[in-house]
Amino acid sequence: MPIKNLVSLTIDGQQVTVPAGTLIVNAAKKIGIDIPVFCYHPKMEPVGMCRQCLVEVGRPVIDRATGQPVLDTDGSPKVQFGAKLETACTTPVSEGMVVIGTSEKAASGRKDILEFLLTSHPLDCPICDKGGECPLQNLTLRYGPGQSRFVYAEKMHLAKHYLLGELIYLDRERCIQCGRCVRFQTNIVDDPVLGFYNRGRSMEIISDSKPGFDSYFSGNTTDICPVGALTTADFRFQARPWELCSTASICPHCPVGCNLTINLRREADSNGDLVIKRILPRQNESVNEIWICDKGRFAYHYTESKQRLTQPLVRREGELVAIGWEEVLSYVAENFIDAGKNLISLAGGRLSNEDLFSLKELTDGMGGKSALYTHMGGGDLVAQVGLEKGTNLSELGKGTVILVVASDLEEEAPIWWLRVKQAAERGATLIVANARPTKLERYASQVVRYPYGSEATTILAMINSMSAKQNFPKTPKIQQGGEAVKTAAEAISPADNLIIFYGSDGLGLEASQALAQACANLLVVTNHTRKVNNGLIAVWPRANDQGAWELGFQPLSNLKEAFQQYEAIYIAGADPVGDDPSLADGVREAGFVVVQDLFLTETASLADVVLPTQPFTEREGTFTSGERRVQRFYPAVSHSEFKPDYAIFADISKRIGLDAEETPLRIFNRLVAKVPAFKGLSYRLLAQVNEQWPIIDRSDLYYGGASYANTQGLGLQLTLPAQIPSLTWPQVPEIKLVEGTILAVPITILYDQGQTICPSLLLHQRIPPAHIAVHPDVAVRLNFVDGTQVQLKMEGISVKARLHISEQVPLDVAIVPRSLGIPISSPVPIEIKAVEEAKV
Ligand code: SF4
Ligand code: SF4
Ligand code: FES
Repeated sequence: MPIKNLVSLTIDGQQVTVPAGTLIVNAAKKIGIDIPVFCYHPKMEPVGMCRQCLVEVGRPVIDRATGQPVLDTDGSPKVQFGAKLETACTTPVSEGMVVIGTSEKAASGRKDILEFLLTSHPLDCPICDKGGECPLQNLTLRYGPGQSRFVYAEKMHLAKHYLLGELIYLDRERCIQCGRCVRFQTNIVDDPVLGFYNRGRSMEIISDSKPGFDSYFSGNTTDICPVGALTTADFRFQARPWELCSTASICPHCPVGCNLTINLRREADSNGDLVIKRILPRQNESVNEIWICDKGRFAYHYTESKQRLTQPLVRREGELVAIGWEEVLSYVAENFIDAGKNLISLAGGRLSNEDLFSLKELTDGMGGKSALYTHMGGGDLVAQVGLEKGTNLSELGKGTVILVVASDLEEEAPIWWLRVKQAAERGATLIVANARPTKLERYASQVVRYPYGSEATTILAMINSMSAKQNFPKTPKIQQGGEAVKTAAEAISPADNLIIFYGSDGLGLEASQALAQACANLLVVTNHTRKVNNGLIAVWPRANDQGAWELGFQPLSNLKEAFQQYEAIYIAGADPVGDDPSLADGVREAGFVVVQDLFLTETASLADVVLPTQPFTEREGTFTSGERRVQRFYPAVSHSEFKPDYAIFADISKRIGLDAEETPLRIFNRLVAKVPAFKGLSYRLLAQVNEQWPIIDRSDLYYGGASYANTQGLGLQLTLPAQIPSLTWPQVPEIKLVEGTILAVPITILYDQGQTICPSLLLHQRIPPAHIAVHPDVAVRLNFVDGTQVQLKMEGISVKARLHISEQVPLDVAIVPRSLGIPISSPVPIEIKAVEEAKV
C-alpha cells in the first residue's frame, strides 16, 4: 500500500496507522479497542441507526491561509473537538484525528442510548437463548444504567414466539431494530424477504415471503442479530451458551467445504454423552467468510438418526442378520483373498481423503480396481488446471472473468453462489451459460443460452470464436457460435484472470467430462492457468469428490458391466441401487458384495455383508474442497460401537496380509509421501491460522454475532503439476429421442430426499415431493395442468411424479430434480402419461 494512502490517528491515547477511508470503529478494532456497536457489522455498509458507537472526535485545526496545522503552545497540533458526539461506525478516519471513547461524555452518550434501547426491552435474559453471548446484555452490564426508569407495564408488548418461517423464530419484544437481519437478507444474499413494518415503538420485523423467511441463508441472521430476537427453531430453549463446548468441523454436504463449529452439551438423557446442540459457521475468509447455508446448519441430524446402522450384518439364508466385528471382518478378508484381483471398490465422495487412500491401498494391494461413484466427470482435469494456490474468490473483482457453465450454483453450492455474486458486485465480469435461467443471472454481465446437450460445444465455440484473431488451435467440427458466444469470448480472451465453474445441470457423466475438457482447453488456450486467481472448479455433488479424483479414483462408464465382471464388490459411502434401481439385479447376482454405510440403503439391503460406519461428527479426517483446499475436521461426539471407514479398511487390509496405517495422522502422512499434489502438507500445517479480517475472536461478539473464531486451521490448497496438459478435443455424446418421448434432464436441488437430509425433520417442509417441470407449451401439447400426477416411463422403469408448469423450462425438455425418488442421473428420453384418476 503506498504511504500516501495511509492515515495516522490517535484512539484513546494509542497511535494507529490505517488505510484512508477506514472507519473509526475498524481502526479501533485493529488495535484492540472495542467501540460498542449494534447496527454496524463489518460485512455490511454502515447505516448509523442505533447510535451506540458514539465517540468524541477531534480534528487538527488548519490555518486557512497557509493550509498548515495550527500548533498549540507546546508545539503539538491543535485539535478541536466537535460539540456533539459522532458515530464511529460511519465516520472515516483522517490524518491527525483524535478519538476518545473513554471520556465521561462518550460514556454518558452510550448509557443514554442503552437506556433508550431498553425502554421496551423485556429484560428476559434468564430465559433468552442469547443470554451469555448477547451484545445487548454485555454492553448493558458494561455501559448501561444500573436500573431501569421504566416499569414493565409501560413497555411495549409484542409477540414473543413468532415463527418467521419454520426455521427461524422472532421474539418481537427483544428486537432493537438494528436492521442487521434486513440488510443481510437484502444486500448480502439478495433474498429481500424481511422488512420493517409499522413505525416508532410499534416497528416490527416481518417476512412477507411464501413460505415464510424463504432463503437458503436464513440461519445467518440468528448469528448476527445482536440480541435474542432471532433464534433457530433447532436451538431455541435447547441449552445455555455457557454449557456448550465446541469442536471444529467441515461441512460434508457440498464441495464448498464451509468451516463449521459444532456446539455440544453433555446430557443426562444421553447417558452423560456429548450431544450436538447446534452448528455455526467458523470463520475462514478464503472459504465461507462467516456464513453457512441452512443445509449446512440444520441437516446434521442424520448423524444422530435412529435409522443408522448399529452393527455389522451378514446374509444368512437370504436374510441379513447381526454378526460381531471380529467375525465379519475375517469373513470379508477371506472373500477378498479368494477374489484376488477380481475385487472392485466403489467409493462415494462423502469419504475423507484418509478413507479413500486406505481403500485404494487395500484394492491396489489385491490388484483390483478402485472407482468413484458419481454422475459427474472431469476431476482429472481439475487436478491439472484447477485453482492456482493463493486464489481467493473474495479478492476477485475488476479484471477477472468468472464463467459459470451448466450449474445452478445457489442450489448446488450456496456459498459459492454468494461469493460469485459478490465478486460480480465488486466488478468481476460474470458470464452465466446455461440452458435455463438461474438466479445467478441477475448479476451476470452476459448470459449465454444453449440447448441442452450443447454445453461442451458452446465452450468450444468460444475458443473457435477467438481463434480467428488469436491463432488458437481451432476445434474440429464446431462453429463459432452466435452473438452471445462471441461476446463472451471477447470478454474472456483479454481478461487478467479467468475462473470457470462447471456443473452437471442437465448433464451426466460423459457429457460433464466433455464439458470439463472444453473448459480446461479454454483456460489453456487463453493462458489462464498456473496463475493466482485462475483455474477450473467442478461443482461436485459431494464434499470430497475432488479429493477422490486427486487420489486416483475415477468413475466407471458402465456400472452394470462392472458388477458382472468382478467377483467381489466393496461399496463404501455410495448407494448406486438407490439412484438407479436397474442396478439391483447386478448387485444381487454379483459374487460377493460388501456395503459400508451409515444406513441400510437400497444397495446395502442387497449386499452379502453390511458394515456400519461413522459420520463426520464422530471421527477425524480431511476433505479436499472444489477449490482444492484440504481442510481438517475433528471428532465431536464419540460412539465406540462404531468404526470410522479408514479403520475398517485398515483392519481388513491387515487380515489380508497387507501393510496399512490405522490412524488418520499416519494415513495422511503416508498419503502425502505418495501423492504429489499433497506434497508439503501435514496435519500441523492444515491446523495453522493467520489473522483474519474482520476480527471476531475477541470476547465482545459485536462484530460477528455468535460466529466462531477459527483457531483450528484454515487448510491449504493443493499444488498443481508443473506441466500444463496438452489439448484434447472432447467427444460430445449425442442424445437420441424416439417418437412419443421427451428429453428429461437432471438438475440438482439443495434440499432433496437424500439420507443426509431427510432425518432433519425441520427441513421436511422444504423438501419437495417427486416432480418434473415442463414448459407451458409442452403441458398444453400433453394436455396437463399444473399439479397433474403423472407416470414417467424411462429405461424400463415407471415412477409417479407431480407435473409442474414453468416458463423457465426450455421447450421440449422436462426438468427432473435428482434424488427426489425419480432415478435419473443423466439426460434420458421419457414418456409422460397421466395417472388415470388425475387426468384432466
Ligand atoms: S431482529 Fe435482531 S437483527 Fe433484526 S432488527 Fe431486530 S435486533 Fe436487529
Ligand atoms: S454451502 Fe455447501 S459446504 Fe457450505 S454450509 Fe452449505 S452445504 Fe455446507
Ligand atoms: S450507529 Fe454505529 S453501531 Fe449503530
